[in-house]
Amino acid sequence: MLGNTFGRVFQITTCGESYGYHASKDSGGVGGSLFCIVNGVPPGMKLDVAQIQRELDKRRPGQSKLDSPRKETDQVEVVSGLLEGLTTGAPVGLLIRNVDTQDIHVEQYRQVKDVVRPAHAELNFFYKYGEHGDWCGAGRASGRETVGRVAGGAVAKQILAREGVEVLAHVIESHGIKGRSVSAGTMDFQEVKANYRANDLNCCDLPMAEKMIADLLKVREAGDTAGGAIEIIARGVPAGLGEPVFDKLKATIAHGLMSIGAVAALEFGAGWDAASALGSQWNDQPFLQQGKVRFRTNHCGGFLGGMSNGEDLVMRLAVKPTPTISKEQDTVDMMTLEQKKLAAITRRDITICPRIYPVAESMVAVCVLDALYLARGWHGVARIDPKWQELAQPRHQGQYTK
Ligand SMILES: Cc1cc2nc3c(=O)[nH]c(=O)nc-3n(C[C@H](O)[C@H](O)[C@H](O)COP(=O)(O)O)c2cc1C
Repeated sequence: MLGNTFGRVFQITTCGESYGYHASKDSGGVGGSLFCIVNGVPPGMKLDVAQIQRELDKRRPGQSKLDSPRKETDQVEVVSGLLEGLTTGAPVGLLIRNVDTQDIHVEQYRQVKDVVRPAHAELNFFYKYGEHGDWCGAGRASGRETVGRVAGGAVAKQILAREGVEVLAHVIESHGIKGRSVSAGTMDFQEVKANYRANDLNCCDLPMAEKMIADLLKVREAGDTAGGAIEIIARGVPAGLGEPVFDKLKATIAHGLMSIGAVAALEFGAGWDAASALGSQWNDQPFLQQGKVRFRTNHCGGFLGGMSNGEDLVMRLAVKPTPTISKEQDTVDMMTLEQKKLAAITRRDITICPRIYPVAESMVAVCVLDALYLARGWHGVARIDPKWQELAQPRHQGQYTK
């Protein structure tokens, strides 16, 4: 399998599967694990392992009635890159063991291993890996793959915190029920911070969250699952990150976010509203505030020419309904090539939204940090007049109004 590393200077490399069951059984080992190697961590940093654990706890399953009942502890072990509590500049290795890989669940997957589950990645796994693909819990296509990303993203967040950058995401829609959002100009960043993780869904519009949760419980009773949307905001990002052509920050963030399973669509700022807008409505007009260039609106989501413009980066993701559902659906047995019916009994989330937001935060953090490394490298050599760098520092007081 190719493509398990993301980032150019600051890089995360992940491995590990949903169950890692065969590997552990076959080798008499301790059990399948997930792993992240983080490249580009500066030396002399006091790595806050408790903060990595807090990030992992955000996406851990089995915490609420909306999650998969799978009981994983997701305890992180730092296995390299530290000496006496400080980073050495060497790769940081993060290990997270799968602990809830019970035989009964493995058997449930074994019984339908040749029958592709609708909307899962399995069909393509047959095309790419033949009969040797991992059939247990979707292998690398499982939501558990994202554990490594969150662990690596937690390290990126710690480095970004030193630069005054923070990244937060929250749920803004579930099964057609919409909450207020920064991108719609109906919520500001302070409210996102104040209400962050205030409910099981992590929807910061608290009254709407109650409606969404009540609806989701009905969806579960019907044996179904629901889609939704999340919004990600990165505050404190200096202007000019990203390159003007292929390596736009917008493009690398799109790469990072679209690489997360179940993401169906991505918008920057007001996104699709651009299609129906006039230039006079859409253009974010610059003005001067205390000697810095600000914008009256943020329809572009903090990007100009694909590079950061010093305002908040704002992205929205549409998240598809969880593929595994209990209702009977058509499918195909890939070994016998027979038409089959399948009604799944394996564990699943009713909605992926409250599980995916920490993953999205991590991918944006990795992209911004990677771009920051490249920009600092550029400025270190190019000798641009420092006044331009001073001007590019972030400015995020105040609120955008529509
Ligand atoms: C954090 C996370 C949790 C997920 N949980 C589940 C789940 O419980 N059940 C399920 O069927 N799919 C789940 N998925 C979705 C599948 O991994 C994904 O839809 C599938 O691999 C197909 O990929 P695609 O949706 O990008 O086409 C989860 C994805 C993520 C990122």
